[in-house]
Amino acid sequence: MTTNAKKGRIFSGMRPSGRLHLGNHIGALQNWVNLQQEYECIYCAVDIHALTDSASKDATSQIKPNIYEMVLDWLAAGVDPEKSIIFVQSHVREVVILHGILSMFTPMGWLMRVPTFKEKLRQLDATEHTVSYGLVGYPVLMTADIILYKADTVPVGEDQLPHLELAREIVRRFNHLFGPTFPEPKAKLTTYPLVVGLDGQSKMSKSLDNHIELAASPEDTTKKVMKAVTDPNRKFLSDPGRPEVCNVFALHKYFNPDKVDQIHQQCTSASIGCVQDKQLLAKGINDKLNDLRERRQELASKKGLVEEILMDGAAKAQTIARETLGQVMERLGLA
Ligand code: TRP
Repeated sequence: MTTNAKKGRIFSGMRPSGRLHLGNHIGALQNWVNLQQEYECIYCAVDIHALTDSASKDATSQIKPNIYEMVLDWLAAGVDPEKSIIFVQSHVREVVILHGILSMFTPMGWLMRVPTFKEKLRQLDATEHTVSYGLVGYPVLMTADIILYKADTVPVGEDQLPHLELAREIVRRFNHLFGPTFPEPKAKLTTYPLVVGLDGQSKMSKSLDNHIELAASPEDTTKKVMKAVTDPNRKFLSDPGRPEVCNVFALHKYFNPDKVDQIHQQCTSASIGCVQDKQLLAKGINDKLNDLRERRQELASKKGLVEEILMDGAAKAQTIARETLGQVMERLGLA
């Protein structure tokens, strides 16, 4: 990996949730792939973060297989181990030490007012007293992730902005107390409209089962698309549709970009029905993902390949991590 002529260093992480879906691809993964042209990129499967909602043996035993499936999707989509460092968070244990150190300089007040933390408490029906220590410190670990590699740019979705703000505060405090050590990481917002699920109700997500996996077969893709909810007001073929409220239409924008105008016109004039419209979408998705799916199968057939890439990535990441941690220890007077 060369640093010259690159705009800066990117770090981003994804929780290992298993196979990715269309929403993850459009929202984050495609962006990761593109950023490799201009930045030095480090991409991480954040398995320690995943422990914050996996307090059972059943749940933790899913993490490793989930990493494998997710990383296969990364590689198939074009995240390139020749260009970028791809690794698993827990393979570079320096991050846990840095997390511990940063936690000594992070006031509880900063953590308690992070909106995602408050939201999580509501979701879990928990309080500050029952929630785990690790969940409170989630953004501190995220900060450690980023600054251990001295990344200056972090591509994230809007939901992660409060975490980035906290990371910047922690960096400012550390630099102020011990001398300039870390760059203040900037968020790089991924600009894409929200990808709505097939239910037409909420964001596409695995837990709501309103998603299509990247790795799904063409048959499964078609089956799922055919069940998608369209404009609820369009009951009869002769009713004109309203593409602006239809999530199938929203997906046409990505998967049939050169046909959207035509589809819009045919839908609003009732010259095409929802069934036909969905068939077009299913075809668009299957055509667009065909190469990715082929590459995925090919990669999956090479036994040990993913493991090897991750080992190699961890070794490269660790070289940077050791150097940063050494510097931190020195700044603290502990070296
Ligand atoms: N918190 C992020 C999420 O839930 C994942 C993450 C962990 C991350 N560490 C990171 C993202 C560092 C960017 C940089 O999506």
